[in-house]
Amino acid sequence: MSRVRLHDKEFEPYISERDVAAAIDKVAADLNRDFAGKRPVLIGVLNGAFFFAAELVKRLTIECEVTFVKVASYHGTRSSGKVSDLIGLSERIEGRHVIVLEDIVDTGGTVRHIMDALRDHHPASVRIAALLFKPEAYKQDIRIDHVALEIPNAFVVGSGLDHDGLGRNLPGIYTITAS
Ligand code: IMP
Repeated sequence: MSRVRLHDKEFEPYISERDVAAAIDKVAADLNRDFAGKRPVLIGVLNGAFFFAAELVKRLTIECEVTFVKVASYHGTRSSGKVSDLIGLSERIEGRHVIVLEDIVDTGGTVRHIMDALRDHHPASVRIAALLFKPEAYKQDIRIDHVALEIPNAFVVGSGLDHDGLGRNLPGIYTITAS
């Protein structure tokens, strides 16, 4: 792994592809244990979670369904922007065990809105699994049940995560350099 430039920013290797894989192994083992016989519905949050979802489900030995949603964001008159809708959720999840798959949980705003939106569909249970979690940035009281890797509050790319559209294809995780 060596440094990469994406648009105007430079990134350096931070977590190897092998360590990312080992962390996903652990999440998969926990889900195989906790959801045996429950046939959960895994809901990947696009775009970033495509990598985590693919790597995770190939390690699952339990019966499960996989689907994806997009979170619509509305940038109205408020400068902060607000997200509030799940696009593409066609499966009936009423009474089902749902596992939300996130690429990264940062402030937790996205998780908050997904949880609020899912509640209207009356699932039997909802858990959240994230490839990456930034505990220092997190502002919600919702528990992130399954975290593959905790990282400090710095901007990262790779393994599905992008900087302005680039970097999702990079294996492993890269962090932004100080320059
Ligand atoms: P949150 O709503 O603040 O938790 O942010 C979650 C979303 O912000 C993620 O799904 C990513 O799309 C994006 N994001 C947050 N931190 C990073 C990062 O370090 N790299 C790339 N995208 C990030």
